[in-house]
Amino acid sequence: MQAWARGVMTGCIAVALAGSVGGAQMAGEADLALGESVYKEICFACHGGTGDGRGPSWLNTMPRPQVFTDTNYMSRLTDLYLFEVVKYGKLAVLKREVKGSPLESLAMPSFGHLFDDAQIRELIAFERAFRAGAPQSAEMREIFDDSCVPCHGKEGRGDGPRASPEQPAPLRFVSDAQPAPADYHDPLFMDRFSDDYLLALIKHGRVGATETAGFDTMKPYGHILSDEEIRGVVRYVRETFGDGRTR
Ligand code: HEC
Ligand code: HEC
Repeated sequence: MQAWARGVMTGCIAVALAGSVGGAQMAGEADLALGESVYKEICFACHGGTGDGRGPSWLNTMPRPQVFTDTNYMSRLTDLYLFEVVKYGKLAVLKREVKGSPLESLAMPSFGHLFDDAQIRELIAFERAFRAGAPQSAEMREIFDDSCVPCHGKEGRGDGPRASPEQPAPLRFVSDAQPAPADYHDPLFMDRFSDDYLLALIKHGRVGATETAGFDTMKPYGHILSDEEIRGVVRYVRETFGDGRTR
């Protein structure tokens, strides 16, 4: 089944259970004006009025807020993933704590048991070199091939076999795994991270970077927003900053 269709179906089930909104409502048919008002009230503070990830509070988080104008990255995410991240928070999604969700969520694993800090720093330099077109060490290439390529792909485009078995990047693809592994060539995505954050991420994994090392991630808003408001804001983000297509 298509990812968007899955999203629509669970959306309906969630609505039926909550009983808050009558009838089926696809993300593409969600209330855009309602979504806009939610965005301008809450989301803009971090993600920016223009979706560039630089709202008034953007310096207060590490990683920095997601850049919604980054269509390379945003097109790899499904509506269901966006909905669940906003409703339950990214941590709960990564830990697969959302009951009954069909989402195949994938958290960046930890490698602290395999590599010391010096090796991790070399790995970070290796990754940053993809975008800079700088030379890469042969030793790190071996480590990268063994440990990182299954998700991040041979050339670091986030298209390893674990992320998408059929559709290679840089073609726009919807990753089977959500969130999609990082594309190291994507400046809008990668500039959001300090080296300290990347060190913690590779050492402790994505969940550990938040729970153990104290870095940030997208918080839940389900306690203040209704499902209808969340669907609306997902539609607003897609249509205002992206290519408008739901997935
Ligand atoms: C206090 C700051 C803050 C506010 C307010 C905020 N976000 Fe975020 N958001 C973040 C940060 C930081 C990330 C990056 C999380 C990460 O990479 O782990 C993020 C990521 C996201 C993502 C992408 C998740 C991913 O895996 O890439 C979506 C979608 C999102 N936010 C939607 C929203 C919406 C919709 C609102 C308003 C209801 C909102 N956010 C409000 C800080 C914020
Ligand atoms: C099981 C799949 C998987 C493997 C293996 C993996 N990663 Fe990741 N990686 C991910 C996912 C998924 C993300 C996106 C994380 C997010 O958005 O929360 C990611 C993100 C990243 C990022 C960007 C930072 C971020 O928060 O998005 C870096 C840097 C990274 N990985 C490095 C590595 C390195 C180095 C290795 C090998 C030692 C590796 N990864 C192995 C899945 C993987």
